[in-house]
Amino acid sequence: MNNPQTTVLFSDEQIQARIRELGAAITRDYPAGDLIVVGILKGAFLFVADLVRAIERPLKVDFMGISSYGRGTISSGEVKVTKDLDMQIEGAHVLIVEDIVDTGVTLSYLIEVLKQRKPQSIQIAALLDKPERRRREVPVAYRGFSIPDAFVVGYGLDFDENYRGLKDICVLSEGA
Ligand code: IMP
Ligand code: MG
Repeated sequence: MNNPQTTVLFSDEQIQARIRELGAAITRDYPAGDLIVVGILKGAFLFVADLVRAIERPLKVDFMGISSYGRGTISSGEVKVTKDLDMQIEGAHVLIVEDIVDTGVTLSYLIEVLKQRKPQSIQIAALLDKPERRRREVPVAYRGFSIPDAFVVGYGLDFDENYRGLKDICVLSEGA
């Protein structure tokens, strides 16, 4: 991309306000029992950090590394586990925390993998959702924002590993 430009889509304040609402809903919804929050690296690292602080109940945190995108903005369609969970999830409530659901290929694969380990339940919390691009159906129980088909960066999301540290979520577009 030549001279990429960033335009704010959701500000830091909007993101934090929405995460407080999601945290309250999760706090309300979950029955007793072990809750394991599974953050998907790397994009969800900031969302996990803020979401777990908005959930007022005991929980455990683990991470999984999945890669479906090659370099750049075009999905390779290939999914690879680059880091597996450290914890056993059998009998636990699993809440997968993902930055963005795009085609759904990553999460539909991940759900199949984790189901085989017999958790009591599996749900998805995704900060962003691009419903127009969906190729595999995935049940998103907790959604931050639905967005149109644009490439976004910031608040954990990258383009070629850049922009993850931006406080706001921005649309990345080609400059003049
Ligand atoms: P899916 O398998 O197509 O749903 O891809 C989901 C993954 O692709 C996300 O976890 C992101 O890592 C990446 N991704 C999809 N859309 C974007 C975007 O707009 N910006 C940055 N990463 C994205
Ligand atoms: Mg990701």
